[in-house]
Amino acid sequence: MDQTTAFIDPYGNNEQAISQLVHRVVDLVISETAKASERQPLPHMKGLWRPTQMPQEPVPLETIFDNLKVLIHHAMNPAHPGYMGHMDPPPATFSILGDIVASVLNNNMLCFEMAPSFTVLEKTLLKQFAKTFGMSDEAGGIMVSGGSLSNLAVISLARNVRFSTHKGGLAMLNRPPVLFASTAAHTSIHKAAMLLGLGIDAVINIPTDKNGRMDVIELERQVLLSKEQGKIPFCVVCTAGTTITGMIDPIGPIHAIAKAHDLWMHVDAVYGGALIFSEKHRHLLNGIEMADSIAFNPQKWLCVTKTCAMFLIKDISLLERAFRIPAPYMSDHDEGPNLGEISIQGTRYPDILKLWLSLQYFGIKGWSQLVDTGMMLKEFFLEEIHKRPFLELSCKPDVNVICFRIKAEGLTTAELNEKNKAMQQHLLKESMFLSLPDLHGQTWLKVVLINPNVTKTVINKLFASIDKFIEGVPV
Ligand SMILES: Cc1ncc(COP(=O)(O)O)c(C=O)c1O
Repeated sequence: MDQTTAFIDPYGNNEQAISQLVHRVVDLVISETAKASERQPLPHMKGLWRPTQMPQEPVPLETIFDNLKVLIHHAMNPAHPGYMGHMDPPPATFSILGDIVASVLNNNMLCFEMAPSFTVLEKTLLKQFAKTFGMSDEAGGIMVSGGSLSNLAVISLARNVRFSTHKGGLAMLNRPPVLFASTAAHTSIHKAAMLLGLGIDAVINIPTDKNGRMDVIELERQVLLSKEQGKIPFCVVCTAGTTITGMIDPIGPIHAIAKAHDLWMHVDAVYGGALIFSEKHRHLLNGIEMADSIAFNPQKWLCVTKTCAMFLIKDISLLERAFRIPAPYMSDHDEGPNLGEISIQGTRYPDILKLWLSLQYFGIKGWSQLVDTGMMLKEFFLEEIHKRPFLELSCKPDVNVICFRIKAEGLTTAELNEKNKAMQQHLLKESMFLSLPDLHGQTWLKVVLINPNVTKTVINKLFASIDKFIEGVPV
């Protein structure tokens, strides 16, 4: 083993060797990413490299670099200007720097003494996020590895608060608890219900109206019905930025129902939460300040490297009262409970550093620009769809997630699905990646306009390609 670079020597003996090595790796990945437009947005899925066996001996440096290059070439390529299929943007530079620093320091958000500066940074910054969403001084939050964990944490807390299940668990209940989310809500809500022992059927799926937003009349009807059936409604999840259709549920009316029926209101703003930073568009989130909890992923629209996600709680002290499991190997201190005692994860990466660094670089104004550009491109994209009678929208989206497809009279669902799949393949050949979600049993195309390399010119090119496909395959 090359002893000179195995670890960073704290006496400074290998500083130069480590620095050279790190620069070499950084130079490789930056130069490959600077050429991202020359590769495809999606790599070839065939012929992926698989290591034959675990090495007994250290692998020569040049072989490591060769293999690293192969892995980079077969990675998803979100920096490509044609990458618009998912909520996965290329990362903001300062968030990459945050990752490098966090990895070198290797702190642990489990407890204060293992990450003092980052614990204080997380608690302070997330209070500022909560304030930005309009929550009061009692609010605060925790960072987690992705929106699914946010939703799980919050629904666990809602359940514990409502049923005092913190100690005795569900066995104490003689009636089944239920929660409500629209049919367009993310599957992590169902996953949370499954993991919490409530079962997937505990999620009552509320139909959406013709615009793809939760039907609030149906919500109230289902709440009353479930009570009549002897169930105990305890939570409603309102989605701000649905995964496939980009809709925002009616937050105010849902809150009114939640209040009337003593339901915890959680807003899954994993995607749409970024709107709060835009003066122009934050009104779309009106009412979010009344939520008991909010989930938000800066790793999506704000382009912070993965993972970067948070949940915010109206009364953060509830986590101490209804969620905390004290750990005897962590010391007490004056900074409140150790984060690992009040969150699902124990050991946790300090994602807060890259979020904070990114914010330093952009400022709120820079984040606002990301949001405003995305919303401007959404309008531009919708205009192009409206110009083409052979295309249809699933619904007019509130945010820059657009779900559309070719429509054609006289085709069966299967034939239409095939035609839309063929169009996706055609676009891929032209270096543009749109995803292919299933919506109500039909195949649609989805674009998410958060890639800062996507411009009006790129969108024009995309529609020229769509037109070319239609000319070749008349509908
Ligand atoms: C609305 C919504 N909620 C939750 C999630 C889950 O987030 P994650 O993939 O970070 O776990 C997603 C993912 O796209 C989402 O769109």
